[in-house]
Amino acid sequence: MKALVLAGGSGTRLRPITHTSSKQLVPVANKPVLFHGLEAIASAGITEVGVVVGGTAAEIEAAVGDGSAFGLDITYIRQSAPLGLAHAVLIARSFLGADDFVMYLGDNFVLDGITDVVDSFRKDPCDALLLLTRVPDPTAFGVAETDGHGNVLGLEEKPRYPRSDLAVAGVYLFTPAVHEAVRAIRPSGRGELEITDALQWMIEGRLTVRSTIISGYWKDTGNVTDMLEVNRTLLERLQPRVDGFVDEESEIVGRVRIEAGAEVRRSRIVGPAIIGAGSVVTDSYVGPATSVAENCCITGSEIEFSIVLRDSSFDGVGRVQASLVGRNVQVTLAPGLPGTHCLVIGDHGQVQISSWPSPARTPGHTAQGPYR
Ligand code: TTP
Repeated sequence: MKALVLAGGSGTRLRPITHTSSKQLVPVANKPVLFHGLEAIASAGITEVGVVVGGTAAEIEAAVGDGSAFGLDITYIRQSAPLGLAHAVLIARSFLGADDFVMYLGDNFVLDGITDVVDSFRKDPCDALLLLTRVPDPTAFGVAETDGHGNVLGLEEKPRYPRSDLAVAGVYLFTPAVHEAVRAIRPSGRGELEITDALQWMIEGRLTVRSTIISGYWKDTGNVTDMLEVNRTLLERLQPRVDGFVDEESEIVGRVRIEAGAEVRRSRIVGPAIIGAGSVVTDSYVGPATSVAENCCITGSEIEFSIVLRDSSFDGVGRVQASLVGRNVQVTLAPGLPGTHCLVIGDHGQVQISSWPSPARTPGHTAQGPYR
């Protein structure tokens, strides 16, 4: 069996991070989300892996290399544009050959790995096997209708009126029967070759499409909220360890990892949290569910429930929360009065500023001024 990992795409939901880098390489608990997927594939006993890459091919290839660090043999497959998940299968035809394969979306995270589902496909083969998960709002997902015994009766992509709460998670197992399906379908309204359409084509052609419901934790890290959530979940399982330097005036509480070469001075770090190699935290508070990557500088600041990518700094900044901060970012206190916000933000950036409400929006005030 082979694996096909999808690491192209546009990543519009993670802009501006994805203007300059690959979303699959955003670290959760200081390790790229893609690496967690590659490790899960290796643990399932698969070694031959095709990685579909798009505009960020160079960055992915530099990070993953030939796969030997993961015990994998990786072939890169270049996708000219993000034309859909089924398009990725179409262009991987010669790599996949006559083998069964697992298709894994490179920005997805499955906490317990994929070994069980791969084993069950090997023992009891069918034309396609899907991983499903119950979600509160299925309208944002591919949604499956099943017969209660795991047989998939129908699929719809982001339906307005979903027929079930079973979303298709980012792991699919296929026999070579899928190749005819991806050749047969046409692009959807959004211009993509949809894998749900290929599966629907298989169902209508009386091929066996089965499903299994994920019992453990699964997330698509395609947006900031889910990325922070996966980071928190992983940090909660982190082995606490202090390999860096922590001075006597600092306090480390709970599940915290201070990586070798990191320094913590006169600060309080409350886990679960990780401080990456070469990062320096001084006179600061780093709170729960926070990952600070390598070579960051946190001085006189407070940060919690956040991911900070490498080479970034915070200086004299009050509590920062629920934030995803890119590489080489500098956040500093504006000097002097009046207290203003001074912003240099990339396209599609999002900033939420905590300020006193402006007088015009305060009850009792009019546009002309207060109480006139
Ligand atoms: P999506 O998250 O569905 O799509 P996207 O990356 O274009 O993101 P957004 O919706 O925010 O614009 O993609 C799931 C995974 O599959 C992700 O790792 C990117 C990858 N992918 C490809 O490799 N090729 C493709 O044509 C598409 C659509 C996605």
